[in-house]
Amino acid sequence: MILEIIQFPDSRLREKSVLIAENEVDAELHELAENMAATMYEEPGIGLAAPQVGVSKRLIVMDLDWAEGERNLRVLINPEVVESEGKQISEEEACLSVPDFSADVERAERVIVKARTLDWEPVEFDCTGLEAICFQHEIDHLDGVLYIDRISRLKRDFYVRRRKKQIRREREETGPPGSIPL
Ligand code: NI
Repeated sequence: MILEIIQFPDSRLREKSVLIAENEVDAELHELAENMAATMYEEPGIGLAAPQVGVSKRLIVMDLDWAEGERNLRVLINPEVVESEGKQISEEEACLSVPDFSADVERAERVIVKARTLDWEPVEFDCTGLEAICFQHEIDHLDGVLYIDRISRLKRDFYVRRRKKQIRREREETGPPGSIPL
């Protein structure tokens, strides 16, 4: 099932998500992960965090280099950066929850991430480049942080103003709630 992706400035994107306990990994969580993956591939994107579909739990899906028929899906529970070093600029970073925008973002060059799989196996990733950027971006979502929080205030204000105008325009086009003719 394709899920609706919550977009800025929805306050649910600002919540700190809760850790998932082993006994919470049930059929419902499996289904959520499956739906999140389907939504990520549909958009398309390379990563999606549960808060983006309105679920305040520490769960992410990622697939960095997928193509039709060739997928390398990772479903990770409670991912956590345990070590980071260096700096890199993520060029034109974007987010499914921040429509019609991208910006260069300073990120750590290398991160070590620990997480659990759906089978509760501990996994660890020592990564650089796009993989490191994607982990930092998705884990930020779990803490209620968006990449636009990590750019200059000037650029952020520019985006926020433009986004507000866009929302106003959309409202005008669709009319106020309850205006559907019977
Ligand atoms: Ni995002």
